[in-house]
Amino acid sequence: MKPLYIQKLIVFVPVVLFVIFLTWSWHRAGFSTAIECKHRDIDGTTADDLQKDSQISVHKKENELLILVWVWPFGETFPLNTCQSVYGISGCKLTADRSLYKMADALVIHHVDIMYNRSSLPQDPRPHHQRWVWFNLEPPLIIKNLHFLDNLFNMTMTFRQDSDVYRPYGRIEALKQPQSFTIPAKSKLVAWVVSKWYPGARRIAYYEELQKYIPIDVYGKKHMKLSWDDFYKTISQYKFYLAFENSIYKDYITEKLWSNAFDSWAVPVVLGTSRQNYERFLPGEAFIHVDDFPSAKDLADYLVQLDNDDEGYKKYFNWRSLYRVRRETGWDSSYCEACRALKQAPDYQVISSVKKWFLEGTK
Ligand SMILES: *[C@@H]1O[C@H](CO)[C@@H](O)[C@H](O)[C@H]1NC(C)=O
Ligand SMILES: *[C@@H]1O[C@H](CO)[C@@H](O)[C@H](O)[C@H]1NC(C)=O
Repeated sequence: MKPLYIQKLIVFVPVVLFVIFLTWSWHRAGFSTAIECKHRDIDGTTADDLQKDSQISVHKKENELLILVWVWPFGETFPLNTCQSVYGISGCKLTADRSLYKMADALVIHHVDIMYNRSSLPQDPRPHHQRWVWFNLEPPLIIKNLHFLDNLFNMTMTFRQDSDVYRPYGRIEALKQPQSFTIPAKSKLVAWVVSKWYPGARRIAYYEELQKYIPIDVYGKKHMKLSWDDFYKTISQYKFYLAFENSIYKDYITEKLWSNAFDSWAVPVVLGTSRQNYERFLPGEAFIHVDDFPSAKDLADYLVQLDNDDEGYKKYFNWRSLYRVRRETGWDSSYCEACRALKQAPDYQVISSVKKWFLEGTK
């Protein structure tokens, strides 16, 4: 048998440690929330109520909006602390911690990540003041189940210019003064990089017609291989790039133009929304539109003609002395912009049917 004092110690020490732990965790949960969380409220809920509801600590300052990233877009994580430091947007706190749901001033919900499962939307009762932002960068062809969104959302964040938060794939910015530039050496004619071969899409039919009259180098799955590391080096050797969108949809102008073509300094031949729509976002002489030609053969003839006319070809670069292309690449910038817009928007705003807004262009 062990001596009595050892037996007592075996019982006593764990009890003392347990009491210390309990005190510590109680302090941690209660204390910081009570001091640091003052909640803006509309419906009479006070910070104390919220604290009782959610025993969590959040370091949130007065007038700061707490934005809950409901799902990581496409499962991709991003830094949550860049609104002020990178984008100069103050008073925003982003979190991906769903236990803060009840305290969140707004949720940003990325459509593609919830579109197959209605229960992947929040199921808990929604705090009165809380606004939901619908975040989507895909055209109707790609997304599903827009009716899941009926009577839930307060704001839209998409590539459409009339969204509450406008998130284009790219844009041009006027330079302070004209700038000189060099067009990379060109040894090839037309390139196209295509990942998804949607049968029946207009771009497939157009390509099939066009390639009868002019050689087109096609890269991508099932075609010539091209790694990202070699992308711009390879494509910049071409005079023209087919920036063909998978959908014809208002304001839907993607990285196929902004990045694939412009970053490669290949003149974009676009197929997508109307020329008039493109010209809302960039100079008319920065691209060739398939609709400028009565047929694919006429377009092919024009490309061959430009291939033999250096001056004519170079005209497609004149805008480069006055503008530069800007692309917002990080997800964090969208979430910070959503916060900025939420701060400026009315506290109360309703979109009864996102589906109607997105498919018919009306709120
Ligand atoms: C739908 O989402 C809920 C909540 O995330 C999850 O519990 C459920 O398993 C999902 N259902 C399917 C079919 O994936
Ligand atoms: C947000 O929109 C939903 C319906 O779309 C509405 O029920 C809710 O009251 C709105 N909330 C705010 C704060 O605007």
